[in-house]
Amino acid sequence: MEEHVEERIISSRIKSEESPYEISLRPDTFQDFLGQEKLKEKLGIYVHAAKSRKESLDHVLLHGPPGLGKTTMAYIIAREMGVEIKMTSGPAVERPGDLAALLTNLAAHDILFIDEIHRLQRSVEEILYPAMEDYALDIMIGKGPSARSLRLELSPFTLIGATTRAGLLSSPLRDRFGIVERLDFYSNEDIYKIVQRSSRLVRLQVEAEGAQTIARASRGTPRIANRLLKRVRDFAQVRANGIITEEVAKEAMIVLEVDSIGLDRTDYLLLETIIKKFNGGPVGLDTLAAAINEEAGTIEELYEPYLMKVGFLKRTNRGRVVTENVYEYFNLTHDRFQQQQLE
Ligand SMILES: Nc1ncnc2c1ncn2[C@@H]1O[C@H](COP(=O)(O)OP(=O)(O)OP(=O)(O)O)[C@@H](O)[C@H]1O
Ligand SMILES: [Mg+2]
Repeated sequence: MEEHVEERIISSRIKSEESPYEISLRPDTFQDFLGQEKLKEKLGIYVHAAKSRKESLDHVLLHGPPGLGKTTMAYIIAREMGVEIKMTSGPAVERPGDLAALLTNLAAHDILFIDEIHRLQRSVEEILYPAMEDYALDIMIGKGPSARSLRLELSPFTLIGATTRAGLLSSPLRDRFGIVERLDFYSNEDIYKIVQRSSRLVRLQVEAEGAQTIARASRGTPRIANRLLKRVRDFAQVRANGIITEEVAKEAMIVLEVDSIGLDRTDYLLLETIIKKFNGGPVGLDTLAAAINEEAGTIEELYEPYLMKVGFLKRTNRGRVVTENVYEYFNLTHDRFQQQQLE
């Protein structure tokens, strides 16, 4: 099932073979990071204040759907602070000792970035509490009645945690972040600017309408925009002297099976299933997941946020419901919908 998700062009998850391409397009200053103006303004102020006080930045939690720039922002913060950043992830830190090793290797004001921080083991997480609060490690020596605890001092550091599933974070961990920020989907105008910027970086000629077509199909997600741009470039090379016109972009979307607002077969299947099998909802997440043969977590993380953003889907306490907007978008009544197959 994972495989299936990775194949999707609109998947906002990183594909390993695309990493070098992504990295080459990654902005490395606040100025280059397009959109998310409020977030940039706030982080800019915190960074500036910490630097002028010669202190480490408060711990930062960045959450929001995949591909919106959490990792990118962590790098930018490190660069703007003028400190080193060490990267790891929740599943990679297997034992408390692994985390202790990372923490003791940080110099003053350095940043430890933990991706997928909601996946940290509880025993590892507990090491983090005194580390975040008092810059200290509590180490147990010995066992039984003679056991004692030894406190080791750490350099003041900044923890940046990133997660797509903030709801899964334990509250003691969450409460220890001084700065908690959510990244939201980008506007089409911001994605348009990102497409233009990326085109410049890869020396690609793109017409305004071509960039707009790509932007609208990118689900408000920079990673998807860059990925679509890469694919459309191939079409432009073969069919239009390398220039991305509106026509080329639209043609490419048809072949890639992505519609004008970035929905693909799986989105269609999901909407269709709720309408046909569950009469428009409400339907519970697990029931829906079984019906379309997807994992519940994948639906929750990858598909639903965008469907909710465009107003096609609602979460109610009795389950998922499609809205009138869906019927309007496909120009079908509920009854006609029952008989048709979305193409
Ligand atoms: N604001 C932005 N301006 C320009 N490009 C961006 C911006 N945000 C992200 N990107 C591009 O999108 C790519 C994906 O961003 P990033 O890896 O930071 O997302 P993420 O939120 O960490 O995703 P995940 O949750 O999957 O880890 C980056 O490599 C970069 O090229
Ligand atoms: Mg990331």
